[in-house]
Amino acid sequence: MTRFTLLLFVVAILAIACKREASIVIQGDPTDLLDKVALERALHSLDYDYTPSFPNYLKSAGLQPVPIDKKKAALGRVLFYDKILSHNQSLSCASCHEQSRAFADAKGFSMGVNGQKLERQSLPLANTANFAAHYRQLNDTGIPPFLWDGRTLSLDEISRMAITSPDEMNMSMEEVLERIRSKDYYQALWRRVFGHSSPKENEMLEALSEFVKAIGSVHASFDASMEMNAGNPNATVKADTSVSAFYHGPPNVIIVKDTTPPPGFTLSQFRGLRLFTRNCSGCHSAIRPFQQVFEACNGLSLIYKDQGKGKITGNPQDYGVFKAISLRNVALTAPYMHDGRFKTLTEVIDFYSTGIQPHPNLHPLLRNPDGSPKRFNFTAKEKQDLLNFLDMLTDKKLVEDVRFSNPFKQQ
Ligand code: HEC
Ligand code: HEC
Repeated sequence: MTRFTLLLFVVAILAIACKREASIVIQGDPTDLLDKVALERALHSLDYDYTPSFPNYLKSAGLQPVPIDKKKAALGRVLFYDKILSHNQSLSCASCHEQSRAFADAKGFSMGVNGQKLERQSLPLANTANFAAHYRQLNDTGIPPFLWDGRTLSLDEISRMAITSPDEMNMSMEEVLERIRSKDYYQALWRRVFGHSSPKENEMLEALSEFVKAIGSVHASFDASMEMNAGNPNATVKADTSVSAFYHGPPNVIIVKDTTPPPGFTLSQFRGLRLFTRNCSGCHSAIRPFQQVFEACNGLSLIYKDQGKGKITGNPQDYGVFKAISLRNVALTAPYMHDGRFKTLTEVIDFYSTGIQPHPNLHPLLRNPDGSPKRFNFTAKEKQDLLNFLDMLTDKKLVEDVRFSNPFKQQ
């Protein structure tokens, strides 16, 4: 029997044993058992298709998903959930990027390996990268930078920073590789994915990035509603008009009267969509490829404690400038803003309604013609409409998708 068939044999036995987990007493090291469960799940997930399938309304707007190498993504999944990546083995990437929260976390400031608070809130990962190619396609500006202050274009670099930062996982890359090499499950997986069993740094980072790229959200009820209207010549909102609608285009792109919501939208959701399109979608397209502004100062404060992009560039014009993030799954990603200052979406909408501050770098989209900050003064009904629309951006399939779930967890 070759080592590999032996391995499969062991895995098969384990698969049977694990099914009866509840009724058997597990001998030995529980971590070891988790390792075996993870290996079994990972071998299984090598066959998953990780490339997202786009709904027709996006395809007919000329967008195609970025292909994903499924084996690398499957390996990336194990790495993403593996606590051996952190110094005292207490944190994995998923500790700060939880699937149930669209890969953000619930802490205002994320917490590092020794329980210390980081300077910023974690960012949700749904649609981090797999829509990146479309930005180039639409406006030739390339991939929008990552992180709240846009300080990198490289996903590999983000993993390296998270692993090696003393405040986050506090490891050296050599230490991580040593630990990875010592695990039987990585030996087996590396052979399947890279054809050898001596893990290298670039391969590990590549696998993590491939997994992050695979996380995509295209199954929110908003998508289903848009899909209902795609290619339907009688529909009032068509896929092609939606492109301009999300471009922060002229007001006439929404051609439906308030009283007649298109299929798939309640009247309130549709009023919310209109409010959103007029006031918000220039910076937060519901479908990110149609976004126009990727970073801005949105006037949270007059003086920022954290200067965002300005902290990196030292340029006063960048003070208070942060990434305008995708609002996909926003109902799941509380608290809000780079410092988690708002606990609820109601607080966020109240801020935009009456609280925008006259910061010198406040973006023109949030200013009146005379330069003063806009006061949207939303009525209670309008606030509810906006909330109902934002709720449509929650992708329940993503948060339950087994391909993105924790392979170490015992169920
Ligand atoms: C201790 C908490 C923590 C851990 C562990 C962690 N992250 Fe993060 N992550 C954050 C925070 C906080 C940010 C935002 C930081 C900033 O913008 O300055 C972030 C941002 C990101 C982003 C940028 C998303 C975007 O849209 O710009 C990616 C991608 C990411 N992390 C992936 C990972 C991966 C992969 C790992 C594991 C190798 C990981 N993170 C581990 C807290 C964490
Ligand atoms: C000029 C661009 C711009 C416009 C217009 C704009 N925003 Fe924002 N928004 C931002 C930026 C930039 C941030 C991040 C700010 C920070 O953390 O410092 C943000 C953050 C948010 C967040 C927090 C996201 C999170 O997960 O933390 C929500 C929610 C939000 N905006 C909703 C809205 C709504 C609703 C509107 C319309 C009423 C709107 N925005 C209009 C730029 C904009």
